[in-house]
This record gives sequence, structure tokens and C-alpha cells, in this order.
Amino acid sequence: QFAQKDGYRFFMEKEIYEQSSVVSDCMLGRIKDNEILFDEIEASIIEGINEIKICACGTSYHAGLTASYLFERLSKVKCNVEIASEFRYKDPLLTKDTLFIVISQSGETADTLEALKMAKAAGLKTLVVCNVDNSSMTRVADATILTRAGIEKGVASTKAFSTQTVVLWMLALYFAKAKNVISNELLENELHTLREVPKTLCISDKIHEKMKRLSKRYLHGHGFFFIGRDVFFPLALEGALKLKEISYLHAEGYPAGEMKHGPIALADPELFTIALMPKNLLYDKIKSNVEELSARDSTICAISPLDFELADDFIKINKTDHYMLEFFEMLIVLQLFSMEISIRLGNDVDMPRNLAKSVTVE
Ligand code: G6P
Repeated sequence: QFAQKDGYRFFMEKEIYEQSSVVSDCMLGRIKDNEILFDEIEASIIEGINEIKICACGTSYHAGLTASYLFERLSKVKCNVEIASEFRYKDPLLTKDTLFIVISQSGETADTLEALKMAKAAGLKTLVVCNVDNSSMTRVADATILTRAGIEKGVASTKAFSTQTVVLWMLALYFAKAKNVISNELLENELHTLREVPKTLCISDKIHEKMKRLSKRYLHGHGFFFIGRDVFFPLALEGALKLKEISYLHAEGYPAGEMKHGPIALADPELFTIALMPKNLLYDKIKSNVEELSARDSTICAISPLDFELADDFIKINKTDHYMLEFFEMLIVLQLFSMEISIRLGNDVDMPRNLAKSVTVE
């Protein structure tokens, strides 16, 4: 309640910098030797489950979308994700072989809470991934996994997202192991990578300075497309959402391969493309998508560990050997990008206009 900015300009900045340590907290006691442990749930939660349905709003929805790739890839369970306000009124078909997961920083978002109650009333097993203990959702759900991010004051969510993503990634591995669908070798490698995440989230002065400098040029943008593939698509959505929330600039997140089906018609030098180009996942595919945009004169800002000659601006991230480490490296870049633009525009970074931290009305 008495949170201080500790020398940072805004709570959002402090929270971006805290991510490395809160992600460590969130893994504490949950990764042991060659295993994932969640004392708060039973491995039997996945028994008889053929499908996972995730429901959430805002940034938490983006964590859910990211997780859907991991649940299918690692746990080999069908997974779909829905925005809670859409789910509520579509007369959803719910079957008892579905595990219903809601994700919420606050545990109080009205639409997500109602979706959870609907699933529970339909007899589904329910699980909430939440940052606030004893919140409404934790009282309704059969099981709770806390993200341990600490109080988040900035309206634009940052550390809640990174901890949610890590919890869901661990959960995907936990299910994979319980279902016996993952090789020891792959599991070992994933756990090793998870342990590297806090280090990846440490922010160098160099990258922050770079984002400060770049923000000068990009605050004049009229339209931004953040593009990525696979888990970098939800990350693109999150990058665009951050920019909208605190900079009030128009931004869209898009799956890179989908640009040719419409949005590429907008390409001209005034269109800023922020391209997420990981080395470890579909690099050639995203590269050719970005080349198409460059050929149509879009201004390209590429974020990648690999040099990319067509980029008008290039943000180099560290070379790693796992796409999820690239994911977190890029997350930091995107968060700093929107924050620095917002600061230059003179906006109130922590309390953006028209937004609330927690939306408890429909
Ligand atoms: C509000 C906040 C967002 C947040 C969303 C969902 O719109 O401004 O930052 O992502 O609610 O909140 P929740 O607490 O359910 O994660």
C-alpha cells in the first residue's frame, strides 16, 4: 500500500525493472532438480482432460494466448483462448473434459470472474492464475496458482504479464510430465531455460539508452504494426497494447504471415513496423514477411539477435538458444519503447487517461 518509486520516474519503470526478481520469486520452490512442483495443485487435475480453455482480458489475455502455444507444443493438449467478455454471451459449449483456466492480475475483473463462475456452474475443473491472494477469483476457482509479482501500481501491466507467462510455461511442463508426453532431454532443456529467464530480464543501460533515443523518432508515428509469429504474435499484441495504453498512438498487433491478407495495403514510409524477429523460431518465415513490407516502403524497426540489413532501425538483443528467452528479451524492449514514448509525450505513464487498473464493472 505504501509502495514507493525508489528513484524511478514512474511505477511502471520500477515494475519493468523488478521483473527479473519477481520472476525468480515466482519460480522459487517450483523448479526442483528435474521437476516442476506446484504444491497448490494436484497432478490429477489434468486426468481425464482433453482440452484446456483459457479466458482472460487485456494483458492477461495475451499471456493466455502465449500459453496456448506452449500447452499444445509441450503438453500436447488442445488449447483455446477466449476474451472473457466474448465468452460470456456466446452460449459456449462446455464439456467436462475441459480444464478451465482464468488468468487475472487482480482476480477481480468482472468479465473474467463471470466466465469463471459459468465454467464452474457447468461442472468444469477450474484454475486461476492470479497475482492477488484471496481475491474473488481465488475464492471461486477450484485451484489457484499465485504469480507472486507483488503489488502492481502502473495501470499498464508489466511484471504481472511476465510472471503469468512464466507460471503458464511451468504449468505446460508440469502437465507434459504428468501426461508423460515429454522426453527427459527436452524437459531438462526447458527447465534449464526457465532458470535463465531472470538473467534475461536484467536491463542493461545500453538497451534503455537505445530505447530512449529511438523514442524521439517514433513518437511522430501515425500508425504502428507490431508483427510476429507463434508466441511472438501475442507478444506483438502486447507491445501494441502497451503503446496504445500509455502513448495514445494507434498501434495494432498482427500475425506477420497475415499482413499480406489486407494490412500490407497500408504500407508506406509513414507506417511503422515493429518486427519481432527471433533467431530460434521461424526466422526465415518472419524475415520474408518483413522483406515484403520493406519492399513496399514501410519503415522497419527490427528487434532481433541477428543483423537485418533492411531495417531502418535495429534493436539488437542478446543471442540465446531458446525462443522463450528471446521472448523475454523482446518484452523488455517493447515495454521500454512505449514507456519512453509516453514520457516524451508528457503523458502520465502510471495513470493513463480513460483506463483503470482493475475493471470490476461490465
Ligand atoms: C484492465 C487493466 C489491464 C489489465 C486488464 C485485465 O484493463 O488496465 O492492464 O490487463 O484490466 O486485468 P486483470 O486484473 O484481470 O489481469
